[in-house]
Amino acid sequence: MTYAAITGWGKCMPPAVLTNDDLSTFLDTSDEWINSRTGMRERRVSHVSAIDMSVVAVSQALACAGLEGRDIDLIIYGSCSNDEGVPNSASGVQLAIGATRAAAMDVNTACTSFCYGLATATAMIRSGMVKTAVVIGVELISRFMDWSNRNVAVLFGDGAAAVVLQASDVESGLIGSVLGCDAEARETLRVRGLGLSYANKDVRFGDTLWDFDGPVIFKRAVTAMAEASIRVMADCRLTADDIDLVVPHQANLRIIESLAKYSGIPMERVMVTVHKYGNMSAATVPVALVEALEDGRVTPGGTIMMPAFGGGLTFCSLIVKWGDRVTPLGLSDKALPPCTKTALELVNESRAMHDAHGRSLQGLMSPLFVEASLG
Ligand code: ACO
Repeated sequence: MTYAAITGWGKCMPPAVLTNDDLSTFLDTSDEWINSRTGMRERRVSHVSAIDMSVVAVSQALACAGLEGRDIDLIIYGSCSNDEGVPNSASGVQLAIGATRAAAMDVNTACTSFCYGLATATAMIRSGMVKTAVVIGVELISRFMDWSNRNVAVLFGDGAAAVVLQASDVESGLIGSVLGCDAEARETLRVRGLGLSYANKDVRFGDTLWDFDGPVIFKRAVTAMAEASIRVMADCRLTADDIDLVVPHQANLRIIESLAKYSGIPMERVMVTVHKYGNMSAATVPVALVEALEDGRVTPGGTIMMPAFGGGLTFCSLIVKWGDRVTPLGLSDKALPPCTKTALELVNESRAMHDAHGRSLQGLMSPLFVEASLG
């Protein structure tokens, strides 16, 4: 039997930190409201493209595995905030890391994109189609945020992380998965105008508009992730006591606490990053996984559960059996260029640009109009 062991991991967090108090300077909100309703205190705002963040994360993951770009057969780029549509983003990473032999594809299932990508890469390795894969979870939401909408502007952040998978005879890597989609609720989260415009950031068609029913998503997210977690544990003949660590999607601390309660797993065994990074959509689970490794919370041979949900509403719960190694073989010196602006300056630039180019178009932002514009 062939398995797909996780042998490398790396992250890239942009340095500019946007606090709740920063948000309160231009939104009718407060640190007290945001922290008590979501558990969030800060999030990051990127000064570079999503591909740039991904390249740093992948370089760290390759060094961690002791591999180079040319060793990779497959790159899966999980994201819903791509820099461009064509060419795809995975090809941008391939070029930058010199992965000349690799197939390169993008996966977009919103916040679950990394998890869906991990399941896809694992299946391709286990079938013998490829031997070595890189899976990325990355998001650059700040460029597409409607900074005038407090319902969503306080919730999201930017970031990236990646893992390397290698074929192995030893049982490790993804050993169980439940993937699904609650499409009846797909209208609860729609972002009109999201994606594809980092490269065109100076020639905007208009602002993004977020249709977002937070309370409905909240309830459906908890139910979907808890049911998927219970099913995947049963599939793997495991109980809650067998799960050493839960690395969940981080959209709201109260969602995570409810999920832990329904799954029968105490919060001491749950990795939480939502207070410092907010919801980074597809980057959330892999960044939390990398930080769990850095913090010594992943043990050799340990069992990790990864439940997630996102727009669609896609959902999943994965179970990973970790291998023997929990420390990197090497480190890469690849890093982002320095950021000379504060996060608030970056956000205010974005707001000014939206005001200048977008407001007058909002009335025209029907889905049809956006389709026509992007087409
Ligand atoms: N500051 C102050 N008040 C706010 C803010 C804010 N930033 N945002 C909303 N409010 C107000 C609303 O206007 C509303 O006021 P009203 O009652 O006078 O109309 C009130 O707060 C809403 O309060 P609640 O209904 O109690 O809010 P709730 O407890 O549901 O929390 C939240 C809202 C945080 C959005 C929650 O529903 C949630 O986390 N939902 C799921 C998160 C989510 O969907 N994440 C994205 C998933 S998909 C993905 O990850 C890509």
